[in-house]
Amino acid sequence: MKPNGADIDAICDLVNELCGIYLDTSKDYLIEGRLAKLVKQAGCASYVDFARKVRVDARLKNDVVDAITTNETLWFRDNTPFDALRYKIFPELIDAKAGSLFPKKFRVWSAACSTGQEAYSIAMAFADVVPDFESWDLQIYGTDISPAAVAQAQRGVYNELEVNRGLDQKYRGAYFVKSAGGWGVNDVLKRRCRFEVRNLLKPFTNVGTFDLIFCRNVAIYFTPTDRKSLFQRLGQTLNRGGWLFTGSGESLMDLGPNWAPKQHCRAVCYQPNGCNGVATLKR
Ligand SMILES: C[S@@+](CC[C@H](N)C(=O)[O-])C[C@H]1O[C@@H](n2cnc3c(N)ncnc32)[C@H](O)[C@@H]1O
Repeated sequence: MKPNGADIDAICDLVNELCGIYLDTSKDYLIEGRLAKLVKQAGCASYVDFARKVRVDARLKNDVVDAITTNETLWFRDNTPFDALRYKIFPELIDAKAGSLFPKKFRVWSAACSTGQEAYSIAMAFADVVPDFESWDLQIYGTDISPAAVAQAQRGVYNELEVNRGLDQKYRGAYFVKSAGGWGVNDVLKRRCRFEVRNLLKPFTNVGTFDLIFCRNVAIYFTPTDRKSLFQRLGQTLNRGGWLFTGSGESLMDLGPNWAPKQHCRAVCYQPNGCNGVATLKR
């Protein structure tokens, strides 16, 4: 079913309301491609009717979010941020925490984690740096607005195509177990990662604070105002000395002087709350 002008307006409003994604009216092909089947299944005569129905049906809301979000992701996406973690960020955070109350505790947020590859990649990069991974209290919090994506992240099972996208044999051998359903992340990594459905445009209640945040390839879907507010609020959840990574090409320079980009291992990252140091990172 092809959406007309009124349909497109109704769906753009609905999608913006549900997940903050800003679809402009040129996205009629995307609306049709991703939602036509749901509109038909719901027995609606038009997208306008469908939008009305979705607003009062929690299950349909989830279906729309799952269908409209772009969950594209892969292991160690862009590589350079993970090199920066291995060679700069993790070693320095570890040094800065030595002698503090919780020297082995690290909290990381993979914000808009999709199906979990980013969170598990961060865990593998951390394991590359420390000789005794199991003895560290690494807590990775992965969140995404798509219930289907979060469910897969929680299962930690990937098909042949997914497991091969960006994952070196060395990591597959060390952290994955082959089963009938695909390749499952083993317990060593799974124990470190907790996944939850969360809308990044809603207040960050009870998230705590983090040493490291990855928020990549999601703000590109938001309005400039929502994008700015998102990163400012993320900055407030970073510990002093904590780091934030955005997607390649997503610059935060317009957020102010605290957001001057820093480059490590050819990755761009931000440290909006100042440099780390033993004294400042004590918690
Ligand atoms: C392209 S993926 C990025 C995944 C991962 N960060 C990466 O870079 O590989 C974008 C993700 O953002 C999620 N997303 C979109 N709007 C969101 C929102 N308002 N709150 C939380 N997640 C959202 C989508 O569900 C999708 O999984």
